[in-house]
Amino acid sequence: MSNERKFFVGGNWKMNGDKKAIDGICDFLNKGSLNSNTDVVVAPPYCYLQYSREKLSSKVQVAAQNCYTKKEGAFTGEISPAMIKDIGGTWVITGHSERRHIMGETDEFVAEKTRFAQDCGLGVIPCVGEKLEEREANQTMDVINRQMKALADKISDWSTVVIAYEPVWAIGTGKTATPEQAQEVHAQIREWLKKTVNADVAKATRIIYGGSVKGSNAAELAKKPDIDGFLVGGASLKPEFIEIVNAQG
Ligand code: 13P
Repeated sequence: MSNERKFFVGGNWKMNGDKKAIDGICDFLNKGSLNSNTDVVVAPPYCYLQYSREKLSSKVQVAAQNCYTKKEGAFTGEISPAMIKDIGGTWVITGHSERRHIMGETDEFVAEKTRFAQDCGLGVIPCVGEKLEEREANQTMDVINRQMKALADKISDWSTVVIAYEPVWAIGTGKTATPEQAQEVHAQIREWLKKTVNADVAKATRIIYGGSVKGSNAAELAKKPDIDGFLVGGASLKPEFIEIVNAQG
């Protein structure tokens, strides 16, 4: 990847873990040697966010996996970006495919929460990506451009945005995109940013890859010029996450 963009590795724990398991994860992260040229961020379930923050060394930042579009109010079951910040979170993932496709979040809703979280002072990790049938129908870039357009309509400051490209067919399936497949999409997202936003934003914005990233495939993916890091699910719960953090070599 380009030296201008700091490598970024996020661990999305999804709906996994209990205090005991989290103690173990925090332990290997705190003891592990983490490349200081990499931003390392983990996203525990909401209810363990503060617990994880308290256990983790300051080398690791903490993210939420989702948020709502309002600061406070009568929104039962929702969590605001201000609350995430209040308990020590500095990032939030928005529009993960599991929220888009299981919870039915629309492009516009994802964009709205992305902008609101930024306005509240959080870094944001909006996720984009195509489903298998969309890739097979050659619609990959149509889908991603549509998701990107909704984001770009709302975002004015790109300096606190890290885009995650997560092909839905590669998530939790063990089927990683090849480095060439991922690079192709990342380059096209960067080109889209250049045309739609501007060349400086395209050059500076980190685009990370997610979908069955493992200790064994991270280094090859990291060699590609437009892959600026990873968003890791399953492997972020295991000590091999350290290998992924350090994949840039
Ligand atoms: P896996 O690494 O388990 O495929 O999950 C990827 C992901 O969805 C990260 O947000």
